[in-house]
Amino acid sequence: AAPVTHEAETATVSQGLVESNHTGFTGDGFVNYDNATGSYVQWNVNAAQAGPATLTLRYANGTTTNRPMDIAVNGAVAASGKAFAGTGAWTNWATTTVTTTLKAGANTVRATATTANGGPNVDHLTV
Ligand code: GCU
Ligand code: CA
Repeated sequence: AAPVTHEAETATVSQGLVESNHTGFTGDGFVNYDNATGSYVQWNVNAAQAGPATLTLRYANGTTTNRPMDIAVNGAVAASGKAFAGTGAWTNWATTTVTTTLKAGANTVRATATTANGGPNVDHLTV
C-alpha cells in the first residue's frame, strides 16, 4: 500500500510540546520533546493486513549529541536505543527507519526518549 504520513502534532504526546518555530516540517508543526527520559510521542497506525512494515521517522536534532529513542510497536520494543544523530541544525530534517511487523487493524507506535536529553524534534511517522 502507499505510505501514509502520520504527523507528530496530531499524535499523543507525553512530556513534549507541539511547536513550529523551526522551518522545514510537514503539516502544522513538530513535537519538541521535553529534555527528559521517558518523554514520548505515540501514533495510532492502521494496517490493512498483518505483515512486515517499514516505519520512517522524520526528525531534526540541532545538537551534536545522539538523542536515542526506543521504538515500540503495540507495546513491545521493536528497536531499542534507536539513534537520532545530530542533523546539523534544528531546521535540517532527516529520516531513519525501523522494520517491524504490524497486525491487521489498529496498531500503536511509540517513540520514547531514553536519555535525559529527551528526543529529537519529531516531524512525522510514515508507514
Ligand atoms: C532548542 C530548540 C528546540 C529543541 C531544544 C532541545 O531549544 O529550539 O526545538 O527541542 O533545543 O535541545 O531539545
Ligand atoms: Ca526538546
